[in-house]
Amino acid sequence: MAIDRIVGTLLRVGELAFAAVVAGLTGEYLHETRGVSNWSRKRFIYTIVVASLSIFLSLLWLLPFSGSFIHWPVDIIFFGLWIAAFGLLVDFIGPLNCGNIFNWGDITEHGTCQKWKADVAFAFLSAIFWLPIHPNQSIAANTDYTSKREPQISRTASPSHQPLRPPTAPMASKITPYIFGSAARRICIASRPAIRSQQRTFAASSRVASDSLFVHRDSAENNASIPFKFSEQNNAVIKEILARYPPQYKKAAVMPILDLGQRQHGFTSLSVMNEVARLLEMPPMRVYEVATFYTMYNRNPVGKYHVQVCTTTPCQLGGCGSDAIVKAIEGHLGVHNGETTKDNLFTYLEVECLGACVNAPMVQINDDYYEDLTPESIVALLKALEASAKDVAGTPSKVPAPGPASGRESCEPAGGLTSLKGELWVVQSPWSEFWALSSRFRGITLHKQRPYRFQERLNQPNQSIKLPGQGAVHRPASEQCSTCTALLTAQKAKTLQQHSKQSILDRRDRRRKEGVHIEGDPHVDRIWRPSSIAKSPPGHHNPPDGMSRILSSRQAEELHKSIVAYLSANNLPNAVAALRTELGLEEETFDAATVKKYETLLEKKWTSVIRLQKKIMDLESRNATLQSELDSATPSSLSQRSQDPTSWLPSKPSRYTLESHQFEISCIAFHPLYSTIASGDQGSTIKIWDWELGELERTIKGHTKAITGIDFGGPKGHILLASCSSDLTIKLWDPADAYKNIRTLSGHDHTVSAVRFMPSGNLLVSASRDTTLRIWDVTTGYCVKTIRGHLEWVRDVCPSPDGSSILSTGDDRTLRLWNVSGSVAENKLTLFGHENFIECCVFAPPSSYQHLATMAGLQKPPPLTSTSEFMATGSRDKTIKLWDTRGSCFKTLIGHDNWVRSLVFHPGGKYLISVSDDKALRCWDLSQDGKCVKELSSVHDHFISCLAWAPSIVKDKDKTPANGETGAGAQDVKIRCVIATGSVDMALKIYAR
Ligand code: FES
Repeated sequence: MAIDRIVGTLLRVGELAFAAVVAGLTGEYLHETRGVSNWSRKRFIYTIVVASLSIFLSLLWLLPFSGSFIHWPVDIIFFGLWIAAFGLLVDFIGPLNCGNIFNWGDITEHGTCQKWKADVAFAFLSAIFWLPIHPNQSIAANTDYTSKREPQISRTASPSHQPLRPPTAPMASKITPYIFGSAARRICIASRPAIRSQQRTFAASSRVASDSLFVHRDSAENNASIPFKFSEQNNAVIKEILARYPPQYKKAAVMPILDLGQRQHGFTSLSVMNEVARLLEMPPMRVYEVATFYTMYNRNPVGKYHVQVCTTTPCQLGGCGSDAIVKAIEGHLGVHNGETTKDNLFTYLEVECLGACVNAPMVQINDDYYEDLTPESIVALLKALEASAKDVAGTPSKVPAPGPASGRESCEPAGGLTSLKGELWVVQSPWSEFWALSSRFRGITLHKQRPYRFQERLNQPNQSIKLPGQGAVHRPASEQCSTCTALLTAQKAKTLQQHSKQSILDRRDRRRKEGVHIEGDPHVDRIWRPSSIAKSPPGHHNPPDGMSRILSSRQAEELHKSIVAYLSANNLPNAVAALRTELGLEEETFDAATVKKYETLLEKKWTSVIRLQKKIMDLESRNATLQSELDSATPSSLSQRSQDPTSWLPSKPSRYTLESHQFEISCIAFHPLYSTIASGDQGSTIKIWDWELGELERTIKGHTKAITGIDFGGPKGHILLASCSSDLTIKLWDPADAYKNIRTLSGHDHTVSAVRFMPSGNLLVSASRDTTLRIWDVTTGYCVKTIRGHLEWVRDVCPSPDGSSILSTGDDRTLRLWNVSGSVAENKLTLFGHENFIECCVFAPPSSYQHLATMAGLQKPPPLTSTSEFMATGSRDKTIKLWDTRGSCFKTLIGHDNWVRSLVFHPGGKYLISVSDDKALRCWDLSQDGKCVKELSSVHDHFISCLAWAPSIVKDKDKTPANGETGAGAQDVKIRCVIATGSVDMALKIYAR
């Protein structure tokens, strides 16, 4: 404010003037005593130095641009310096017999004492001017700033509104001006009631201590040792609630079950939350998070009636206003916000909008809303509740019904209806249901489905029927059934199914204008039905001929029975009765037991027709594909089909391109026995395909983040699908039970990047970004081993065919070989060589030993019984390296132009196949020193992320190969020449011989 600046400037001028006076007087004395020892004049020298500095600084700070952080410490220092000067001067004139130091009455123009007294007095004044009035400029400015915040918020509508300004360092800012300014402001506000009434803090309602929501402290009634179990009845409700969610998502039921617990226990205690966590198999912390986030969960006991008053703006402004309601409640109950009455009957709480704003003001008491309240009605309500609760005689007091207390029925306009006052748009007869059903069954799509509204007794003769807006309509006993009458009329109309509501109404009006008499029910012409039905001959009581043209009489009869049974099962007795009458299906001919047999027939047929239609379409499309392949087949490609599987390599075009994923495919795995392949994507979805037919079989959802790895395997005779994800879990799915999630393995602390079944079947190994490998028992779900050693993200893991070793690799650029046959995993080898992160690793099958041994310079290949002699790795350094268990890299394969993402050895042992982010698939011939003999470029439109070879079929039926395992030798296995690639382009490609 300007006044601050003026006063501040005046004070600085004062400092300047007083210092100048002191400097003058002291300087004069020093001049007079020149030649005298400086030691005896030291106090005056000190004083004149302080005065000079003061003059300099006060002059400097009077300049407009001189705001500075150092003002206040300098001011304080100078205050101290001036006090010292003052003391020295007083000490000097004390022995001079000048009388009282502040007695200036006898001052004369040239008196010595007067001069010294003036010197002392101005030194004192200087000290005072420097002291209190030079605090931290920043503090002063901030104080100034914050002092403006509240009034500005409260004056948002005021024309004198000033925007908030950041802290500044005004020239010569001081506390004193602030005090003046502040006081002036307060006086100003106090004198203007309009402004005062607008002042309001942010929180209209008093604050509830956060402790009650977010902090738990054990108390007698709320601690973890208090047992809590859901009652039998609530257990049944929980079962029903859980049935609404897929098993893997049952934690989604946390809110209704917490609510159930609160209702049973009275409040959401720690025991309730723990029990809910146990039931839903959630970490208790997750349940605490929910319970403390939503205020609907009472973390402390509440009274029998929990009175929650909405004080949000609409309720504060509506009706008498929530302020009046709050006042009435507080006055009646004698408690304040968040408190419970002594008799434990009422807990009173102010809350935010409860969604009944149109009936403001309102309160919620337990589960009921009481609306359109007045202070009188709320007090009456509280009294009634109190009386009801204390009524020991067993005669419950009359508690007002929940809802509006104003006489309104609901939330309709208080002044009565202003719209929707005309007649109802559609009245439907029982036949309309029949037409809807039969039309659907016959593949006819009605233009628009209407809600079924039954006018009871519509078809009953000799009845007066009251229709909305039409008064009573009398139907004589002699009248034909309304349906047939309607059909007669409808002959004149074109089909209604292709017209909008407006066109239908227009047509009706036109007919009326034309004088067309509409017999029977005046509304019946608005029934929606297909045109074919409208052609039924007059007086025809049998089912319309449109149906009989398609169905034989027996089929039609079956259909009628199915419809009757369907309607009965769906609890539509009027429709059933009407249909039975029309069709002559009396109880004797079509009894309840027979009805039961037909009950689901209609639905089954309906769904099977859709399935069949889809199947037919798929087969037709596949047929077309095969035909085009056949047309383009060359003699060489036909001969390729009969070539030796040990030398088969994939060729373009792919047999299938499977597209259904909505996100990038990250991993694939073949079923070891069946023609099934699973693929996982970055969007948490797993898809199951039939690679022989090229069909999508199933979509599995359960993970909540990207799928990073999948594998088939598991106990003998019970193949499972394992998947791992960035959601830190591994899930096991049972293919024999519609891929139901049978177990979730939790333990990794970061993304689980790969999962592989061990050949034993009962164990599973996983690699994670938390730098560990874990071995799990799939039958129990327990982690049996945690392997530490990698320094960074472990990206891939591969068990040896005999299960005694594990190969792992990752971002620390090492390849590690672990012996896991003992109780503790032993790091047998750590191999370095890649220059970037290693993406994948794989053991070489024994069938490749002869070629790899030659490449490695060995005299003779290792025995075929040995299972972990050679390894291969693919890296982001664009190379593939081949390693032996002596710890050396004996070959680096160079050719890819981007990250190598996946590797697989040909089951015949002669080739190594790789895919890369360069979109290419390369085949490396191990018998030719790793020469790239085939390259399929642009296999996908984007990076290729995964590659898999279908596991060979082991002729020994007792042995089941794990995914990726190729068997001990060519003589034991039947190689399946099928390879699959998955890509960021969201497509899965199958290459097969
Ligand atoms: S503001 Fe009170 S219910 Fe919405």
